[in-house]
Amino acid sequence: MGGRRGALGFPAAAPSARVGGAAPSAPVDGSAPPAVALTNVSKVYAGGVRALDDVTLAVERGSFVAVMGPSGSGKSTLMHCAAGLDSPTRGRAAIAGIDLTRLDETARTELRRTHVGFVFQAYNLLPSLSVMDNITLPLRLAGARPDHEWLGALVERVGLTDRLTHRPGELSGGQQQRAAIARALAARPAVVFGDEPTGALDLRTGHEVLDLLRDLVDTLGQTVVMVTHDPAAAARADRVVVMADGRVVDSLEAPTPARLATTLTALEVR
Ligand SMILES: Nc1ncnc2c1ncn2[C@@H]1O[C@H](COP(=O)(O)OP(=O)(O)O)[C@@H](O)[C@H]1O
Ligand SMILES: [Mg+2]
Repeated sequence: MGGRRGALGFPAAAPSARVGGAAPSAPVDGSAPPAVALTNVSKVYAGGVRALDDVTLAVERGSFVAVMGPSGSGKSTLMHCAAGLDSPTRGRAAIAGIDLTRLDETARTELRRTHVGFVFQAYNLLPSLSVMDNITLPLRLAGARPDHEWLGALVERVGLTDRLTHRPGELSGGQQQRAAIARALAARPAVVFGDEPTGALDLRTGHEVLDLLRDLVDTLGQTVVMVTHDPAAAARADRVVVMADGRVVDSLEAPTPARLATTLTALEVR
């Protein structure tokens, strides 16, 4: 059963980060592809709305990128195209060097299960399953063997070791989101996407979740891409990509909340 490979030929639970912070393994040619790469991506929805207009963006492995921009600027569409949940009309989207636009729907689904984690505003835990069964659900769906050492370290890091047999309804909002983060990381994905992951949390709990995401990047070498409208949340990222009208209009390194607020206000009052 060991060494099981999926239809795409890559290991079912491809390790992209290791406990202890070792860098993700590089391919044989020595050039590690970015965790996420969009190349000249456009997305035109039926009806003619151009939600993405020639977007090129690379997210390096082990980095934390936030995506900001006014409502309707294309943030969710960007995330969906980058994660293989939707297909660009034009251009190329790749995860860890694997071109999603060349895969059929079945292969894309398998790639998502093994290489991509998601954290949503609304946690989306299954209420009838225990916390542990929720966390390991993506592994079971992918038919992958759980890596118990990794899961143990993960559960400990998210602070849920003594809550594993509870149901989600018995946890606080912050604990539920931490369970959702552990679930997103269970398969050691190449990238975790978050769409407003702190949107439903109070300020202090939201900060705890951001601390956790930051720590997963810093100590486990994870890659995180987070859509948020909150400048304080975005300022925890290494880089903030700013969108307007389907385009990337700015990219700020080591951003401050004040600078982000100014940038966004300028876009919103145009
Ligand atoms: N499924 C869809 N069909 C048609 N238009 C859509 C669809 N999803 C989003 N849009 C449009 O595409 C644009 C970008 O949307 P979206 O990516 O959701 O922006 P954001 O997440 O920044 O608010 C908006 O004009 C929106 O109305
Ligand atoms: Mg959105």
